[in-house]
Amino acid sequence: MTFKAFDLERLLSDWEQTVEFNFAESGVHPVPLKELLEFADADLNEFLDIPLNYPEVNGDLKLRQRIQALYSDATPDNVIVTVGASEANYILANTLLVEGDEVAVMRPTYMQFSGVASNLGAKVRTFSLNENKAWALNIEELQEAVTPNTKAIAVVNPNNPTGKILSEKEMDVLIAAAEKVNAWLIADEVYGGAEREKTQPTSSFYGKYNKVITVNGLSKAYGLPGLRIGWIVAPVNLIKELWKRHEYTTVSSSMLGNRLGEMALRPHVRRQLLDRTRKLVGQGFDVLQQILDEYPDVYSVVPPGASALSFVRYNLPVNSTELIHRFREEENILVVPGDCFDFDHHLRISSALPKEYVHEGLSRMNDVIKKILSR
Ligand SMILES: Cc1ncc(COP(=O)(O)O)c(C=O)c1O
Repeated sequence: MTFKAFDLERLLSDWEQTVEFNFAESGVHPVPLKELLEFADADLNEFLDIPLNYPEVNGDLKLRQRIQALYSDATPDNVIVTVGASEANYILANTLLVEGDEVAVMRPTYMQFSGVASNLGAKVRTFSLNENKAWALNIEELQEAVTPNTKAIAVVNPNNPTGKILSEKEMDVLIAAAEKVNAWLIADEVYGGAEREKTQPTSSFYGKYNKVITVNGLSKAYGLPGLRIGWIVAPVNLIKELWKRHEYTTVSSSMLGNRLGEMALRPHVRRQLLDRTRKLVGQGFDVLQQILDEYPDVYSVVPPGASALSFVRYNLPVNSTELIHRFREEENILVVPGDCFDFDHHLRISSALPKEYVHEGLSRMNDVIKKILSR
């Protein structure tokens, strides 16, 4: 079996630290530690006596209590804290799947779960979000992709890369599809809370069916990727199985991550973090839209419901990987090619960043487009 690399993360590892303008990350502009402490009205001195020990392997109890409070009918035993949502997805695939299992995965999507699943020898079937219908769930494809052998259906909601928020009806259709074949429904919900126009956070799948597993973390909607705090909320028996894989993978997340993570989830701090995120998401998209409007025959986009991202279609006879390397080589900016999602002729552009940065950096993208069109 050939190992399938995670193309999106490979691209980031190679280039994101050296380009001048980075629009390839998927979170909002990160929160400085000072700002987090200010939101919490906390003093740095509180932290100076923390022993830099391991926290509880499954996550500090106070942090798990904060997490549990975000879900209906969860207890701290339904929660395991991981090193980012990426460890969560990784141990989920390793716990649930063996060679020959089938999974059904949304497309386009963040391709971590599907990549790990195929590296484990699972068969990955896909069902689409339909761009021509504002990324509506393609129910026919879902029904074809889910078979009596499906072990898990995996979705990212709100979606990366499109920012699509599933409607309650679409969520019910997914639950019914999982229930029909007794499959797990895995919902990666890291963008919940990063809504662009809605003020209510996107509802969680958790609690809608007894085999729902939800993944979340502080990296995206909270703007705290450097804390490396993620989590899984799931039935207690499954948490125990995940815990055994977590011990092999990372043992635990960090003590400081747990303590600062607990602070971030205090209700008044969480509210301020999410307000900050929504502001960045809204204003960043408006600047992006102005840049795209300069070439209406080239670009089109379904405005994202949530997330820091837009999945922009471009109408040029150039492959997306070739195009983003032209942007990088000629203008020192990085965006993600649709190829990283098996979706050519698209660009994933992150815009929940300071407005001036978005404007200056993305204008450079249009300088390349201008050159291509004038050839
Ligand atoms: C949908 C989704 N899940 C998980 C992750 C991993 O996030 P973390 O930084 O919490 O490991 C990402 C990062 O881009 C993501 O977009």
